[in-house]
Amino acid sequence: MLILIASGYEQLSEWAARIVAKAIRNKPNLVLGLAAGSTPLGTYRELVRLYKEGAVDFRDVVTFNLDEYLGLPATHPQSYHHFMKTALFDHINIKPANIHIPDGSIEANLEAYCASYERAIQEAGGLDLQILGIGRHAHIGFNEPGSSLRSRTRIKTLTEQTREDNRRFFAPGERAPEAAITVGVATIMEASRILLLASGEHKANAIAKAIEGPVSASASASALQLHADVTVVVDEDAARELQEKDYYRRVAEMTARLTPERLW
Ligand code: F6R
Repeated sequence: MLILIASGYEQLSEWAARIVAKAIRNKPNLVLGLAAGSTPLGTYRELVRLYKEGAVDFRDVVTFNLDEYLGLPATHPQSYHHFMKTALFDHINIKPANIHIPDGSIEANLEAYCASYERAIQEAGGLDLQILGIGRHAHIGFNEPGSSLRSRTRIKTLTEQTREDNRRFFAPGERAPEAAITVGVATIMEASRILLLASGEHKANAIAKAIEGPVSASASASALQLHADVTVVVDEDAARELQEKDYYRRVAEMTARLTPERLW
């Protein structure tokens, strides 16, 4: 794992966008895995800026989102469909046919639908780069505690913590979703490269579990320790509980000096 500790959210977003933009320049038809949620918002804003400057072109990029709330139609303002449209897709030249987000409105044949999402990723050639946020309990996607590290796209019941964390986005009185369609841990682990982002003190414990804790289905982000190409970009607050923080900084400095192409 390459762990980059940014001074704050702005720098984190700038670094993450540079990593993604470089990956697209290297492979214009990149298959990009996307996360929703508040963490990557700054990265998407920065990617839009780079696109407007002509520094990155999304014409041939193919995207797959990690997850969607079950029971929310694409038009619902809290759906990840709506989130992605307003945060990124409406502002770049990606082809609508190249965008994939699980359909939260399906009511029948859920397992067949999940299998078809998984197949679509394979048929696109697999994920080249997966962007991830992390939940308070160290989930990636909506792979909540107890998610098999070999799991695939499926329906997952959300924990009370996750529902609570997301309740603020829903109107008073509106029920926050109880379940989601999420790609599995194994799906994420098959991405060629992974970019994990975390900002804020409330993510410090999850980041420590992910990077330094035991590999465990109780914290699906810890599975990333078994992946050969993970870049973690955190800010100082999210890095607070890391035991080896000073060492990670030295590794990052050395990487910048000896193999700068590994950064961006
Ligand atoms: C979202 C996703 C989730 C979030 C995580 C953190 O697509 O897969 O794992 O990344 O819950 O959410 P935020 O960034 O809102 O703190």
